[in-house]
Amino acid sequence: MAKDIFYTALDIGTSKVCTVVAQVGPEGELKVVGVGLVPSQGVEKGRIVDIAEAQEAIQSSINEAQRYLGNRIPSIFVSVSGAHVTCFNSSGMIHPDSEEKPVTRENIERLVQSSYPDIPVDKQILHVIPVNYVVDGYRGVRNPVGLHAGRVQVESHVVLGERDILSKTTHAVENCNIPVGGMVLSPLASSEATLYQDEKEMGVVLADIGAGITDLAIFKDGSLWYNASIPVGGNQLTRDLSVALGMPYYFAEDLKEKWGHASPDGSESGEEVLLPSFQGQPRRLIRRTLLCKPLIERLQETLGLLQVKIQQTGMTRFPPGGVVLTGGTTKIPGLAELATKVLGCSVRVASPMGIRGLSHEQNKPAFSTVIGLLLWSIKNHSQKGLYSSKGDWNSGEPKTFFQRIRSAVQVR
Ligand SMILES: Nc1ncnc2c1ncn2[C@@H]1O[C@H](COP(=O)(O)OP(=O)(O)OP(=O)(O)O)[C@@H](O)[C@H]1O
Ligand SMILES: [Mg+2]
Repeated sequence: MAKDIFYTALDIGTSKVCTVVAQVGPEGELKVVGVGLVPSQGVEKGRIVDIAEAQEAIQSSINEAQRYLGNRIPSIFVSVSGAHVTCFNSSGMIHPDSEEKPVTRENIERLVQSSYPDIPVDKQILHVIPVNYVVDGYRGVRNPVGLHAGRVQVESHVVLGERDILSKTTHAVENCNIPVGGMVLSPLASSEATLYQDEKEMGVVLADIGAGITDLAIFKDGSLWYNASIPVGGNQLTRDLSVALGMPYYFAEDLKEKWGHASPDGSESGEEVLLPSFQGQPRRLIRRTLLCKPLIERLQETLGLLQVKIQQTGMTRFPPGGVVLTGGTTKIPGLAELATKVLGCSVRVASPMGIRGLSHEQNKPAFSTVIGLLLWSIKNHSQKGLYSSKGDWNSGEPKTFFQRIRSAVQVR
């Protein structure tokens, strides 16, 4: 029964390692039953640089989440991000056996598998996502299964990761005696928890600004169309502040979280902050606007880099859905205002949606990836093979979130 199925997700970030175990309730609601949150170690910008350290953090996070559960976690979905992840769009075509017979699921699986070229040996496919089907010249077909057609084409979005880096991640997790159930691109996971289907249909840019990386995903016509990452995040803001104030990193981190503001007019002018004492120096007061200056400059630069990445795709303006920001760094007040000014489009900051049982501490943008991973694992639970189609969730009548979960679980 659905209520006995546990879904587990692991987000290995630059600042934190987080495991969340959830269960689908009788009403189809997704409820968190265990959380393991520990500081990250041995990880830099999406890459495991010290497998023993990373494994220790992963093990502690899993143990903590398992403690609430009482059972062993059967398998786990893991997030993947970083500069080693690349993507391209590709297309393929088939002529089904006969126009007399409807197109089958097997036909479509074969089509999708054939829609991308051979992959270099050092790369591994993470996702092949059918973006659009063209049936006998008609574009925009959501699901050709059951149609009578002489020719079916597909445009796919292919996401690749570096084999070595992915296998290090797999080893670090599987050495904790839990098999990896799947690996999911981080911003694709975050999108599951933060974006409305309407935004994906209209076209939207999602940016997850974490501690070491800003992950980017662009959606068009309901599907992932582009993804990239920028090696800048909140750690850089803290480093800048630490240099500007001549203070150690951990003081700067605390000051950033307590007093940081991203909008030049947002903090009351004249407001002052008492800095902690360091190296026996007396404590001193500085204007809050002065403290925020390096943070704002770095955020402006990061948003500028984001804009360049988007322009490099050939897009000349932002999609109608605008920009959705998530990730721990978006906790800084005033970021939506700053981003609206820099990017010149509508911007909203998103926390994870569609789950119960998260504490106030966890119901924050830093948890969008891990919660999205859970939602992704439920959605793709019944699907085999490499690709995840838009399938069940997008077809037919629009459904509420809980209805979608229920139907995804009932597929089993
Ligand atoms: N109130 C706040 N103001 C500004 N920054 C904040 C605030 N709270 C948290 N942060 C920053 O959020 C970052 C952590 O975000 P998050 O947990 O999303 O990163 P991560 O997933 O561990 O890293 P990554 O995704 O980059 O590998 C840290 O840099 C932290 O300083
Ligand atoms: Mg992250």
